[in-house]
Amino acid sequence: MLNKKLKLLIKSRSKKIKKNNILCIGDLILDNYQLGRVNRISPEAPVPILSYQNERKEIGGAGNVAKNIVSLGGIVTLVSILGIDNASKSIENLIKAEKSIKFKAVKNKRYITPLKSRFIDGAKQLLRVDKEKENNFSRNDQIKFLNICEKEINFDLYKKYKSEYAPDSFHHVAFKTQNYDAMVEFYEKLFGCKPMYKSNDIAFLAFDEEHHRIAIANTEPGIKKLGIISKIILAFRNWLNKNIPTTIGLDHISYSLNPIDKWFDFYHKAKDRGLEPYWTINHGWITGMYYKDPDGNLVELFFEHWTNDEEYKNEISARGFPEEPVGTNMDIDILYQMYKNGESLKNLTKKGNTVPEGKKPVAGIQAAINMRKKFK
Ligand SMILES: [Fe+2]
Repeated sequence: MLNKKLKLLIKSRSKKIKKNNILCIGDLILDNYQLGRVNRISPEAPVPILSYQNERKEIGGAGNVAKNIVSLGGIVTLVSILGIDNASKSIENLIKAEKSIKFKAVKNKRYITPLKSRFIDGAKQLLRVDKEKENNFSRNDQIKFLNICEKEINFDLYKKYKSEYAPDSFHHVAFKTQNYDAMVEFYEKLFGCKPMYKSNDIAFLAFDEEHHRIAIANTEPGIKKLGIISKIILAFRNWLNKNIPTTIGLDHISYSLNPIDKWFDFYHKAKDRGLEPYWTINHGWITGMYYKDPDGNLVELFFEHWTNDEEYKNEISARGFPEEPVGTNMDIDILYQMYKNGESLKNLTKKGNTVPEGKKPVAGIQAAINMRKKFK
């Protein structure tokens, strides 16, 4: 009766469970089941002899709770403490097999991962052997643990976050340039923009139903009116900007182009118009190509690695940003060849997938510093 009521209650809450990422904090135990049959008693002492048939390992403690939540369709972030021993390795492997569990652990070699070995004769348990120790965590471990929990809770809050001051959407970018005609021509070419308004001083360009998506202001006429000293200072400043990497200011603007087919289509059509990306990188969760405008501003076009809401929910929304979100530089033509050969999306979006055998990908912040280097 209680079971029936419980089942109904769980069913009525299952939608809520599916919608939320549940934080599960607690001890992890490795449950080891030694399965066999007892057919005889030892002649030396009245001890049953278990004839071994096989064994099974399962995650116990908070791991079992996490697995139950997953079985109801939920997504779990499991935070715990592990030792560096055989039991912890088995636990990590078992959790890896659970797609909807994001696992974070503080590891300490002084910690003994609890192991419970059960010896089972058919359906009857003969003996349980516990390997565990009263563990005192150092202050450092406690801080690490709390930091992980805090980060996970913040990430969950962030996903549901919508500021009361939030704008509807991103709308347009505006550039200042002394390279007016070239800049206007570049954006007309890149996005097929139409100038909604264009004077000698400013152009408003649109690529969809909006009145403008890119504004370009011509600073050249204003500069002509300046005195010689101001002109020299400005020329020097512009020279510095162009020749020495800047360490402040806007890095790039970015647009999404999904799915991958549309992204390749954009690449080829832009190439036909004489435009090629300056930088191509697989960020590991999105893949981007970056075009450089005549003033050196970068414009990113990216496709996402998940193809639907469910995948998004299981990947970045539930698991958070990848540990290394910059990614690996890649060769777009090799990637296109792989795409034409029918490679799966999983392979097409794998980091370092266009690097020749025996070479290493240029990855992480090095990829952003050496944009043109595809491998090393
Ligand atoms: Fe970006």
